Amino acid sequence: MVKAEVRAVVKTLSGEAVWPPPLWLMRQAGRYLPEYRALRQEAGSFWAMCMNPEMAAEITLQPIRRFGFDAAILFSDILVVPYAMGIGVTFEEGVGPSLPAISSADALQGSESEWMEKLAPVYATVRNVRGTLDPKITLLGFAGAPWTLATYLAEGHGSADQRAAKLWAYRDPRGFQHLLDRVGDCVAAHLIAQLEAGADAVQIFDSWAGGLPDDVFDRWVIAPTRRIVEKVRAVRANAKIIGFPRAATLAGYERFARETGVDAVSLDTAAPMTWAAKTLPVAIQGNLDPLALIAGGTALDRAVDRILTAMRGKPFVFNLGHGVLPETPLDHVARLVAKVREA
Ligand code: CP3
Repeated sequence: MVKAEVRAVVKTLSGEAVWPPPLWLMRQAGRYLPEYRALRQEAGSFWAMCMNPEMAAEITLQPIRRFGFDAAILFSDILVVPYAMGIGVTFEEGVGPSLPAISSADALQGSESEWMEKLAPVYATVRNVRGTLDPKITLLGFAGAPWTLATYLAEGHGSADQRAAKLWAYRDPRGFQHLLDRVGDCVAAHLIAQLEAGADAVQIFDSWAGGLPDDVFDRWVIAPTRRIVEKVRAVRANAKIIGFPRAATLAGYERFARETGVDAVSLDTAAPMTWAAKTLPVAIQGNLDPLALIAGGTALDRAVDRILTAMRGKPFVFNLGHGVLPETPLDHVARLVAKVREA
């Protein structure tokens, strides 16, 4: 049996400066791939694909086959956690997710064993992928962070200003804390179950962590993440965890890196990598602009070189600053992979 320690992403998360750096891309399985679009046509809905362990495993592997990334990320969605807690989620074509807005944590149902039963297809997917994945490739699980999930639960859909969640949190801090804790319990159980099913590491996506006042960033982003890290490590002491508090301030990223206990911080497009290399005491992931990947050519080459120059000699995982966009040309992704391999 091949030990997880030979996997370059796992090594990097353990603090080793692997060079050339390993790479994978957020949203690497998705609509920019013709083979994904073909399966999507067949399956009918995104959710049906997420809940079908054979199909979800196949989609997880599609970008690995095509580009040879160093990590496969489980094909699923952050909204499986609200679903496990009894909140029906639908995805409308071209619109995004939609769910009934809630105003009390009491709307979230079930116990840990009930959540795990509803999410059993996700863990079956993890086992299927690990069964066929090249042993050198890292398998990543993931979940949404409580704050980002709260923005969807409070609003009923994605929102640019997170208005409903912020108003709830300001007006009813105790009720909102209860929401964060209850969602955090399900997130922690979900991450542990993915690790037990064979994921090597997990990423916590806090996509809406930007624009928060300093003190509430501590309470709604850092503290709930630290609580999840502690719960996961209580069961799996060596669990490797990546945090992605997208669009945090530099001070916010630094406190997040020091205070949550994560092994790596994923940085968004705006974060200066020279600053990150000097300042952050954990492994770093990021942060190519997804639009530079669409543009390609010298803009792409220059952006990749700047990141590589800043991160040389550091524990670093090459990634985007946010997800791959559907209109991304496949040959630009291939060029990116080739350039990083030459670093
Ligand atoms: O990264 C991967 O390839 C793994 C799979 C993955 C998906 N969503 C698949 C997906 C992951 C890690 C996610 C995370 C996710 N989901 C986040 C956090 C990351 C981020 O992008 O900020 C969020 C906020 C969601 C919620 C969500 N799911 C939204 C807002 C949307 C609609 C926007 C969109 O891109 O269509 C989705 C749908 C979704 N999740 C798709 C995929 C492949 C597109 C579904 C389709 O139409 O085929």
